[in-house]
Amino acid sequence: MNPFDQAQTMLQEIQEANLSSSESAEEFRIKFIGSKGSLKSLFAAIKDIPNERKKEFGQLVNQIKQEAEAKITAAKKNASGANKNKASDNDLTAPGVPYEMGTRHPLSLVKNEMIEIFKRLGFVVEDGPEIEDDWHNFTALNLPENHPARDMQDTFYIDYEANKLLRTHTSSAQIRVMEKQKPPIRIITPGRVYRNETISARAHCTFHQVEGLYIDKDVSFADLKQTLYYFAKEMFNSDNIRMRPSYFPFTEPSAEIDISCFICDSKGCAVCKHSGWVEIGGCGMVDPAVLTNAGIDPEEYSGFAFGMGIERVAMLKYGINDIRLFFENDKRFLEQFS
Ligand code: DAH
Repeated sequence: MNPFDQAQTMLQEIQEANLSSSESAEEFRIKFIGSKGSLKSLFAAIKDIPNERKKEFGQLVNQIKQEAEAKITAAKKNASGANKNKASDNDLTAPGVPYEMGTRHPLSLVKNEMIEIFKRLGFVVEDGPEIEDDWHNFTALNLPENHPARDMQDTFYIDYEANKLLRTHTSSAQIRVMEKQKPPIRIITPGRVYRNETISARAHCTFHQVEGLYIDKDVSFADLKQTLYYFAKEMFNSDNIRMRPSYFPFTEPSAEIDISCFICDSKGCAVCKHSGWVEIGGCGMVDPAVLTNAGIDPEEYSGFAFGMGIERVAMLKYGINDIRLFFENDKRFLEQFS
């Protein structure tokens, strides 16, 4: 085939090529304008063309080159256009994937409700450290070393020598508040406490308490009683509570606070140990020795204190019969509080 015919055939082939995919465009490029492509041989043929036709042939070869290149450019543009479409190929009418909303933990719900109730009586929320020292957790609360009542609370010591322990009750926060504030004091301190206890349906090594403290002139046991009645009424819509004489080193007199068991309607169940009553905490009039330890004159001021277990209150409120459920983070349990 003479070079002119060869060029014409190539031009026709280029014009007819269908470069629908990026693969076919690449094949086309290699075949025609790649370093070993057919255009190269056409350019090489120019030197053998008789002089009077060189110009004509050169123009033809140039045309072929330009058309081939234009074709490739167009094919590339098409391919990227198609990809662009693909990227936005979302089905905008498809239903959305719903966000799973978390729920508040039942202990947070109950804690917040307790805070709200006591706030209405003028109590403000205070905080204390979970890592405590012996003075705030024991000694200042009228529990000197070797006091038998220390056995009531099995303590986790972080470092006995360095006087570091995990607080066994939120009562330690009482002392911290009294040390830095002058009466009148009306505070609650919700928080986590730790005890070296065997874990069971009724007990855990970590749980939560709300401590309450009210110090002012002429505070009486009647104020304490009314405060607890108000709490029971607001929290459980029940004033079916009772106070049983008890002993705590930091209060005198002391009492245990019981509320009638909702779980069994006071008929007797595992939660109330078949007594119809559930203990939700302890309370009493702050012992004068504790006031003195914290720098408050017991001749001038008196006060009451109470400590309640948040888990206990939550178990009663929601009819939960195993304290371990609060700490397992089982979604099937938590979702019930949404
Ligand atoms: N701290 C006690 C406990 O954890 C509870 C308690 C009893 C707190 C009597 C008080 C109180 O403030 O007055 O068992």
